[in-house]
Amino acid sequence: MREYKIETIVHIFGMAELNEQDRQLVEAARQATKGSYAPYSKFCVGAAVRLLDGTIVTGANQENAAFPSGLCAERTALFAAGAQYPDQPVTALAIAARKGRRFLSKPISPCGACRQVISGVEERFGSPIRILLYGTDGILVSEGISPLLPLRFEGEDMHP
Ligand code: THU
Repeated sequence: MREYKIETIVHIFGMAELNEQDRQLVEAARQATKGSYAPYSKFCVGAAVRLLDGTIVTGANQENAAFPSGLCAERTALFAAGAQYPDQPVTALAIAARKGRRFLSKPISPCGACRQVISGVEERFGSPIRILLYGTDGILVSEGISPLLPLRFEGEDMHP
């Protein structure tokens, strides 16, 4: 038996500690929660994606009475970016969530399916995505999906 230790390093920043670009992306994610359609969960999530040329694409969770037919904010934004700007690599992704008018105090954490999609977008463009998870108490920043999804399945695993 061999033991394999996985270390995860992320950083927590205050809003004032973020650089201008990151602050702008987090603000876009906060604003994007207004596009949330969440009559079932009442949990409004917004996501904002920054592309290499500086374009920002936003998304919000869209629910459906058949629950699995809905989609998270992160994938809404990432798929919209992929569809509209297929040649532009994604460099950063910010997420924010609120219940009613109150944003969460601790950083919102993307679901497993969204982490897998983020991983796929990194693979597609061959570069890590800076991930900013907003909470009013601090913004958790992960350099790429790896710290949030170690041992993940990647396309190249199919062609060893
Ligand atoms: N949701 C997101 O949009 N992103 C997340 O990171 C977590 C969950 C949505 C899905 C559903 O519409 C609602 O939040 C409750 O799970």
